[in-house]
Amino acid sequence: MKGLILSGGKGSRLYPLTYTSAKQLVPVANKPVLYRVIEAIRDAGIREIGIVVGVDDNARQVREAVGRGGRWGVDVTFIPQEAPLGLAHAVKISQGFLGEDRFVMFLGDNVIQGGISPLIRQFEHSAWNSQIVLTRVEKPEQYGVAQVAEDGSIVRLIEKPKEPPSDLALVGIYMFDRHVFDAVHAIKPSWRGELEITDAIQWLVDNGYAVHPYVHRGWWIDTGAPIDMLAANDKVLEELGHEIKGFVDKESKVSDNVTVEMGAEIINSVVRGPAIIGEGTRIVNSYVGPFTSIYHHCLVEDSEIEHCIVLEHSRIVDIPVRVADSLIGRQVELSRSPYKPKAYKLTLGDHSKVGIL
Ligand code: TTP
Repeated sequence: MKGLILSGGKGSRLYPLTYTSAKQLVPVANKPVLYRVIEAIRDAGIREIGIVVGVDDNARQVREAVGRGGRWGVDVTFIPQEAPLGLAHAVKISQGFLGEDRFVMFLGDNVIQGGISPLIRQFEHSAWNSQIVLTRVEKPEQYGVAQVAEDGSIVRLIEKPKEPPSDLALVGIYMFDRHVFDAVHAIKPSWRGELEITDAIQWLVDNGYAVHPYVHRGWWIDTGAPIDMLAANDKVLEELGHEIKGFVDKESKVSDNVTVEMGAEIINSVVRGPAIIGEGTRIVNSYVGPFTSIYHHCLVEDSEIEHCIVLEHSRIVDIPVRVADSLIGRQVELSRSPYKPKAYKLTLGDHSKVGIL
């Protein structure tokens, strides 16, 4: 089996972060989502992984961050996609890499509880041509939904159905054999101009190939939008233990579901978990509340922060009101301005969102 990770795309729902960085590199509990995906595939025993990337600067960052995969004990091949022309298009351009092998395709911005080892084993030794992962959702009309027959096989896939035939939504993990290449060559772009993976799977079903569902029972989060990123962060933090590798002074209180990474310092502060404080980050005279991940080399001083993700090298200093439910990019400066006139003074990128009191 080979692995195929999709790490191209526009990431428009995460603007402005994705103007300067790939969304798959945004950390969840201080580890980029893409690294979690690589680990899930590696843990399922797969060593050869193709990563589809764009051709922009974000792609360069992904290539640099992942390298050749040695850190994970895997062999990574990058597959450039000129434009985000759809998930099935990404499969099409990966044919040279995948050859005749069965493979698992994983969206590089999805986080799933418990890994994928059982389903890889199930598919590897099966006679099925494809296996798709489904999960029960509350609002199926917002997802790609599967209609499953009594014998358990897939009958139909429908994108965002007005009247959903089931509550089983497609999760961003798919397994295929070589017949999927016939499918991706046969289908036409959808109304939004993309080659849709749901159309390719429907083609397999319609042409008599065996497509089997696997119903995932843990949580699964597609981190496409800021609110989903925070939700994924919540879930992963809840599973993290207690580890103090940094320094906590006597005046500070750190609860037992907090990770303090190497070189981090907690000075005269309260950190209430689940939370993670990254390498070289300083928390001074501050409160860090539950479900917060602060990445490396940040400073939080004389401030309160809760339910946030803060990216590297950012500084939050002397903020009079608690910062909550926020996704804060790299090298962001959030501080009070001592100069007159008394006003909000902002330097914000395009598509920034600020909620003031
Ligand atoms: P999406 O989240 O569907 O698309 P997107 O990344 O362009 O995001 P947005 O809607 O916010 O603009 O993509 C799912 C995953 O697949 C994501 O990791 C990006 C990747 N992808 C590709 O690699 N190539 C593609 O052609 C597309 C559409 C997505």
